[in-house]
Amino acid sequence: MDLSIRFRREMDKGLCRDTNPTAAIKMLPTFVRSTPDGTEQGEFLSLDLGGSNFRVLLVRVMADGEQKVEMESQIYAIPEHLMRGSGSELFDHIADCLSNFLEKMGIKDKKLPLGFTFSFPCQQTKLDESVLVSWTKGFKASGVEGQDVVSLLRKSIKKRGDFDIDIVAVVNDTVGTMMTCGYDDHHCEIGLIVGTGTNACYMEQMRNLELLDGDEGRMCVNTEWGAFGDDGALEDLRTDIDREIDAGSLNPGKQLFSRRLHKMVRRLVPDCDVRFLQSQDGSGKGAAMVTAVAYRLAAQHVERQRILDTLRLSREQLVEVKKLMSEEMVRGLSKQTHEQASVKMLPTYVRSTPDGTEHGDFLALDLGGSSFRVLLVRVRSGKKHNVDMHHKIYSIPQETMQGTGEELFSHIVDCIADFLEYMGMRGASLPLGFTFSFPCHQSKLDQGILLRWTKGFKASGCVGQDVVTLLKDAVSRRQEFDLNFVAVVNDTVGTMMTCGYEDSKCEVGLIVGTGTNACYMEEMHNIELVENDDGRMCVNMEWGAFGDNGELDDFCTQFDHMVDECSNNPGKQRYEKMISGMYLGEIVRNVLMDFTAKGLLFRGKLSERLKTRGIFETKFLSQIEKDRLAMRQVRSILQHLGLTSSTCDDSVLVKEVCSVVARRAAQLCGAGLAAVVDKIRQNRNLNQLSVTVGVDGTLYKTHPHFANIMQETLQDLAPQCQVTFHKSEDGSGKGAALITAVACRIKSEGQH
Ligand code: BG6
Ligand code: GLC
Repeated sequence: MDLSIRFRREMDKGLCRDTNPTAAIKMLPTFVRSTPDGTEQGEFLSLDLGGSNFRVLLVRVMADGEQKVEMESQIYAIPEHLMRGSGSELFDHIADCLSNFLEKMGIKDKKLPLGFTFSFPCQQTKLDESVLVSWTKGFKASGVEGQDVVSLLRKSIKKRGDFDIDIVAVVNDTVGTMMTCGYDDHHCEIGLIVGTGTNACYMEQMRNLELLDGDEGRMCVNTEWGAFGDDGALEDLRTDIDREIDAGSLNPGKQLFSRRLHKMVRRLVPDCDVRFLQSQDGSGKGAAMVTAVAYRLAAQHVERQRILDTLRLSREQLVEVKKLMSEEMVRGLSKQTHEQASVKMLPTYVRSTPDGTEHGDFLALDLGGSSFRVLLVRVRSGKKHNVDMHHKIYSIPQETMQGTGEELFSHIVDCIADFLEYMGMRGASLPLGFTFSFPCHQSKLDQGILLRWTKGFKASGCVGQDVVTLLKDAVSRRQEFDLNFVAVVNDTVGTMMTCGYEDSKCEVGLIVGTGTNACYMEEMHNIELVENDDGRMCVNMEWGAFGDNGELDDFCTQFDHMVDECSNNPGKQRYEKMISGMYLGEIVRNVLMDFTAKGLLFRGKLSERLKTRGIFETKFLSQIEKDRLAMRQVRSILQHLGLTSSTCDDSVLVKEVCSVVARRAAQLCGAGLAAVVDKIRQNRNLNQLSVTVGVDGTLYKTHPHFANIMQETLQDLAPQCQVTFHKSEDGSGKGAALITAVACRIKSEGQH
């Protein structure tokens, strides 16, 4: 009993990060985490070194119908002088024996995977990398301690040059034995060797294994318990005879633990039902099983990467995206091709930027992003020109977004009424700027004919109508107050203006939020839809629709098609659906479903939750990719999403999927932006352009890597442009009010 308690204490000491260095029992991680699931198959080689016989084996694992294993093996001698001679001679000899075996089996040119049972204390860093800590038992070959035994074996094989194999795993004999027995008995979770030496391994919870990161699932730990007592803990039990044997051994002071424990187990732990299963097949079969499992996992990894590769874009592809976008921009601007062009390049009638002389109080509406806002904006002119804002956020229920236009616009007017009440301004009739973030055809500033709904909106009876009229009608239905409509503004334009108020170089507006879009200052003579040829006008590109004529077909994956097909507007806004917050989570979910259906994730179990549209919101994408976020937290996000059966490997994979999908989005966005800034540069015949982009949108603002990746791509694809990004903190409502202010100023100048 006493011994058992001491031993248990020593195990805890070995598991704990702080005490491990001085612990006698090293509790070595083996990187064996999965046991066979019965789908493994193939031919595997195995070496078994460290017991009384050195053996080479060929193991055939069959998975068709019932799991079955066939083995052939050959014992080879290891002469004494090699056990204690030079390490390289020892490994050359092992390679000789292997060569001989392959020759005999007629499989020399097969390059089979090999599992290596190496039954000595090793510090493992991977399944196929194992550094010998110290020799035990009868071995003492020089130049091996402190070395990776896999590299040594690979070197000896390479030196011969007559065959090649793929060394996949190194295992201790205890681990091999556990896996040998575990193949037939799924309750086998402990491996015990009592032979030339003694040792045990068992499946430990990852969270108790402090030496490794990750806390999900289990890993087999090689206790190396033979070293128990090396720090003197067994002194009171040792006899003179023990001391004498120790003194005469190859490693005096080491490996003192005796074999008496075996029979005592049941008496010492009466509440555990322990069965001893004698391994008939040696540990070589187990090493082959470890290899077979590793092979299955590796094949699954390759399959996952093959799928993810379809979502990875090469530089050539990005250059192509930029080129296609440039062409589409020209087509959208030209009268002749405008109708067919996917990128509509809509005139906005916004021509001048604020100059600081604007003044007055304005109302603004901000509709179309993730929140609907009503704002009061007070613009003060003069030296210290500034803007003071009050706003309130209102929700728009899904039914209202997708109900009738009348309901939608009445709801908006209700919100305005509530806001005026809240501000104590009932009955006030202020000039109003309306940020309406959908594609509108404008022929003047205060009119916007809705071309199509995008994102989550689908209210009936609005497409083809002037949204200002729709809003005016709703105001008069209410018969309570009057509004003075001055400007309809896209959110990109509002954002450009918001940022332009502080930075006069801001001539591009970009949104990466629920949807994505950009606007920029274009030369009037290029805007064929508007007569006048002087100066510049802001163009709302509506680039979200890029790809709607098939321009992006070469880059779209099966996942993009699925997301598109299940959306409100199939076939439309193809570029937006590869970039913006409303869709990225859906792409990720579709990838995860595919992985799961193929047995590559969540143990192949497709949960109801995962089948639910929209569970992956942008905020989860941004959270999951936070660097320094431990896998435990990733897992808690997955749990929050109802994906409860996930393992640590699942979390790693989900994170990877998120990162691949977000990276592609950022690169695509950067490629589009490169086309925009290069167009501005060429318009002005400049060799170098320095320009600022005003940006808004939840995805851009909260994603930890989106901005960087987008900027890298932009710099790479438009090297002649020096682009500064100005994050909008005030929303586009401020910009809409400023546009309204400018329009009011010009109007009053005209009147004077
Ligand atoms: C807001 C702007 O800050 O960002 C809106 O005021 C814009 O006009 C929105 O539509 C875009 O981001 P998201 O993530 O809310 O769609
Ligand atoms: C959608 C809209 C567009 C808006 C963008 C960002 O693409 O069509 O008008 O600018 O989303 O909100």
